[in-house]
Amino acid sequence: MKKVLVLVDRLSLSKKKLTRFLNQNSKGIYKADLRSFEDLLFEIKTGKVKITVKNKDLKNYDLVFVRRAGKYVRFMGAISKYLDYHKVSFIDPAFREIGMSMDKASSAVRLAIKKVVMPDSYFCFRPAVIKNKDKIIKDLGLPIIAKAINSQRNTNIFILRNEEDFTKLFKKSKKTFIFQKFIDIDKEFRLLVMGGKVVVLEQKSVRNYKKIKVEYLDPNEPSVFLKLDSVCEIINKMAIKSTKVLNLDIAGVDIAIEKGTNINYLIEVNKGPGIIPNSKTSPELKAFSDYINLITERTSILCDFRLTTS
Ligand SMILES: Nc1ncnc2c1ncn2[C@@H]1O[C@H](COP(=O)(O)OP(=O)(O)O)[C@@H](O)[C@H]1O
Ligand SMILES: [Mg+2]
Repeated sequence: MKKVLVLVDRLSLSKKKLTRFLNQNSKGIYKADLRSFEDLLFEIKTGKVKITVKNKDLKNYDLVFVRRAGKYVRFMGAISKYLDYHKVSFIDPAFREIGMSMDKASSAVRLAIKKVVMPDSYFCFRPAVIKNKDKIIKDLGLPIIAKAINSQRNTNIFILRNEEDFTKLFKKSKKTFIFQKFIDIDKEFRLLVMGGKVVVLEQKSVRNYKKIKVEYLDPNEPSVFLKLDSVCEIINKMAIKSTKVLNLDIAGVDIAIEKGTNINYLIEVNKGPGIIPNSKTSPELKAFSDYINLITERTSILCDFRLTTS
């Protein structure tokens, strides 16, 4: 018997009636399960992404029927990538065309499917966090890094040292979080990538993890720019691959090297990365202008070509 998932924003009576009717009239061909987005758990590991609903992997369904996505619609971009990867049909295919959300959870799903090395992570919606807490702790170990999926610039990064910190986190913040294995960072870099090339390399300072909120050791410390060949080729390749997976022409890619193991982890890909708007202290403005010059020169070649052939 085939399996159909009816995925909804809320388990309302009308959706229960719809699912019951589907089952009564399925002629024994399929069994439909009614589940809400709140039941989803995203296990995000390099090359091993799993999206489950009540412990059942979405890849084991024959059809996912999104009856109503509501406020969860922006996660359908990443979910449809997962379903496509496992060749599971879904309604509607138009979900492939909705603007891809660049939140940290959606990006992590897409990067991990494409085997970019990153810290093991879990994502679920707020109402399900406490229910999934034990599983997350058991798998990732403590401490755990919690990041608000829509925040930037170190404003919503927390370190959870025990079970109670999950509750504390929710009291402190109303946001939606992704949970990540804590990496003991030796060095961290920001690679500014433009058009598939690393154009600026910056050394980032290690954060202060003493309190529950992860902060800069010194918020006013000056940026340290390095020569482009100061990091190994693997790190450059990782940064470039990450921007390609997310289809970004311009991005700031954070990569950390772990103490002891020397493993390189992708920490984050920032679209529209922040820059220092001063060409005397930062090479970033020059990099932007060089890149836009390059692109416009290329487009004018294309235009000239079109003029001479038409
Ligand atoms: N899994 C992790 N383990 C340890 N430190 C982390 C981890 N993830 C992020 N950090 C630290 O927190 C900083 C901010 O995290 P990031 O994911 O880049 O979010 P944002 O820059 O949007 O606030 C990183 O630059 C890194 O220093
Ligand atoms: Mg960052």
